[in-house]
Amino acid sequence: MKTITVIGTGYVGLVAGTCFADLGNQVTCVDIDPARVAMLEDGRMPIYEPGLEEIVRRNHQSGRLRFTTSYEEGLVGSDFAFICVDTPSGATGEADLQYIRAAARMIGRVLDHPITVVNRSTVPIGTGDVVAEILRQTLRPGLSVRVVSNPEFLREGSAIYDFMNPDRIVLGATDPEAAEAVAQLYLPLRAPIMVTDLRTAEMIKYASNAFLATKISFINEIASVCEKVGADVKEVAEGMGYDSRIGPQFLNAGLGWGGSCFPKDVQALEHTASIHGCHPQLLRAVMEINRDQRRRILLKLHDIVGSLNGKTVGLWGLAFKPNTDDMRGAPSLDLIHMMRGEGAALKAYDPVAMDRARTLVPDLALVEDAYAAAVGADAVVVVTEWNEFKNVNLPRVRDSMRRPVMIDGRNLYDPGLMADLGFLYRGVGRGYAGSGALADDGPPGATAPARPTHAEPARAETAHAETSHAETAPAAAATADDAGDAA
Ligand SMILES: NC(=O)c1ccc[n+]([C@@H]2O[C@H](COP(=O)([O-])OP(=O)(O)OC[C@H]3O[C@@H](n4cnc5c(N)ncnc54)[C@H](O)[C@@H]3O)[C@@H](O)[C@H]2O)c1
Repeated sequence: MKTITVIGTGYVGLVAGTCFADLGNQVTCVDIDPARVAMLEDGRMPIYEPGLEEIVRRNHQSGRLRFTTSYEEGLVGSDFAFICVDTPSGATGEADLQYIRAAARMIGRVLDHPITVVNRSTVPIGTGDVVAEILRQTLRPGLSVRVVSNPEFLREGSAIYDFMNPDRIVLGATDPEAAEAVAQLYLPLRAPIMVTDLRTAEMIKYASNAFLATKISFINEIASVCEKVGADVKEVAEGMGYDSRIGPQFLNAGLGWGGSCFPKDVQALEHTASIHGCHPQLLRAVMEINRDQRRRILLKLHDIVGSLNGKTVGLWGLAFKPNTDDMRGAPSLDLIHMMRGEGAALKAYDPVAMDRARTLVPDLALVEDAYAAAVGADAVVVVTEWNEFKNVNLPRVRDSMRRPVMIDGRNLYDPGLMADLGFLYRGVGRGYAGSGALADDGPPGATAPARPTHAEPARAETAHAETSHAETAPAAAATADDAGDAA
């Protein structure tokens, strides 16, 4: 059993602190936000993460997990201090390190014994050295600490599972003994542990996120071509995903990636590359494709309903991906901004992100469920692939709308079925079957019956999301992650 201090109680800090406590350690979480700490002390969660509340409560009640705003209190007898504070984008795309610096300064000022400081926030390459320097400057004379980089790879929505079942633990340190001490904390998880230097560990994190974002932008570019040539990107992705060199995950075409990680991390890596004289053209293209995905959805909407001025659009989903209430970098925010700019009236629904939406977009009309968002609407746009949208009663939705227009930004539904149900339907990259683009002028042979029929679901009245082989295929398994936050 070790004594651990966790600095920051957001998605990363609260999950890490809780899981370390659950593994039998004594954990104190420190946050500068008194309201957040009060909620946690009270057993209420400041974020939505499946399964978190129960584990927090259990460990809090057992006395292994405490919350405080006081660094002095939080660091008493501590062996490790994990820094898990936010690192948002700065004005020019660089990572803003003000919270990291503040946390390092506070640790340095109050510490009265040697510990290992572990940086779990996602930070630019070289930040470990910055933290070490701040500590050197602020620590009382004669006291020294060791700094380790331990990047976080969890996905919101499955954060507890990811902490307890990591693909790998990456530890970067100049002092191998410090890395070894942190490694001991993770031994119960039986995961591969990779020890490297500080800067390499920091780069592994950025490179991993940039690669995953690249995969999504890649399939989105392929999707655009599929629409023009009459191919179905879902089947293309499935066919690619069976190749073990490619893998099925992060190959779902759609509205693109969002979240608190990919947007700022790809941008920060591009910034780092630029200031070091590199030419990060791939990273720039990855971001540009992602921005275009939002616009493409709007173009599909225009194709069917014309001008949005005075039209009503229902939005299904606000969170940047399912199973989280996080709306940072969410495609919904871009869509809301663009659609309102064109004069559309919006009605939105999300299973868990409504409270966040009230703070971020206070004047957005929020309704009680997906059906209410569709009533009287000129179009519905599927923004987040929540499971409950896969099982809506589509005939009921159709009958309640002013015009049965469905723009499926997450490819939840089968284009053929939607057409049979009388929807004017557009998915992303679904060939002529989804876009209708080639119905009249497609290449020779690109007629409706030529489309493979093996993905067609049973014609059920309510279970309308695509089922059949696509549901069990590896390409379909990655849906929730592909909105982008591996991490
Ligand atoms: N959210 C994710 O899925 C995820 C995944 C992997 C890595 N990361 C990285 O982890 C870091 C944290 O992300 P997050 O999503 O948990 O952020 P968050 O915004 O949810 O939480 C950050 C918390 O830190 C607190 N804080 C800020 N400054 C502080 C200070 N000086 N002392 C104490 N507390 C302070 C804030 O009050 C807040 O509660 C970021 O660098 C992020 O890029 C996030």
